[in-house]
Amino acid sequence: MTAPVITIDGPSGSGKGTLCQALSRELGWHLLDSGALYRLVGLAAEKHGVALDYAAGLADLALALDVAFIPGEAGQPTRVLLEGEDVGVTLRTEHTGHLASQVAVVPAVRDALLQRQRDFAQSPGLVADGRDMGTVVFPEAGLKVFLTASAEARAERRYKQLKDKGEKVKIGALLKEIEARDARDSQREVAPLKPADGALILDSTDLGIEEVYQRVLAEARARF
Ligand code: C5P
Repeated sequence: MTAPVITIDGPSGSGKGTLCQALSRELGWHLLDSGALYRLVGLAAEKHGVALDYAAGLADLALALDVAFIPGEAGQPTRVLLEGEDVGVTLRTEHTGHLASQVAVVPAVRDALLQRQRDFAQSPGLVADGRDMGTVVFPEAGLKVFLTASAEARAERRYKQLKDKGEKVKIGALLKEIEARDARDSQREVAPLKPADGALILDSTDLGIEEVYQRVLAEARARF
């Protein structure tokens, strides 16, 4: 690995996405949203009618994944194209998150996405957002962070985000879904969600995202 890498792992709703975007913007580094890749495999499986327990079929989809990330102009979000079709909206729904966490338990899918993720480590540097960035994908990263927050705090954040987007959701149902996804992500056999060796462990429940950002930025400036 030549380019410097910062890995940010943690459960959904911990504030990883916001943190990674802010860091990559500030440092001028590339950004890998690895969750988006698992979401895209889930969407591709649904589109092509591949069963979520058909490992070989899912791995083929993951290897051949035809995806383009097109940076948005003038502060617009990055556009994501799956087989030429803009999936920016469906990519972020709870339904797609659920598909993603099911395909993510398949070892062959994780293997198929490994090199694609490593290819993001380009000069001047990479901020990698996920569950196993520091443990599996970039174990040599110069700075590894594990960001967590209580399930309640994460459900509240997610509720607000989805409501702002006009999705109709109930907070109790979200909390249950978050707890179920945490259990699937941390108890699975391959690449379970856990802090990498040497990771800086931060909890955004009380710290707040701005403080977390300042801590990680200071650490990055000291190391790179
Ligand atoms: O981060 P995001 O919510 O987009 O991730 C969706 C799902 O993809 C997660 O719940 C997890 O199951 C899976 N995932 C993973 N490994 C990663 C990133 C995401 O297993 N590095």
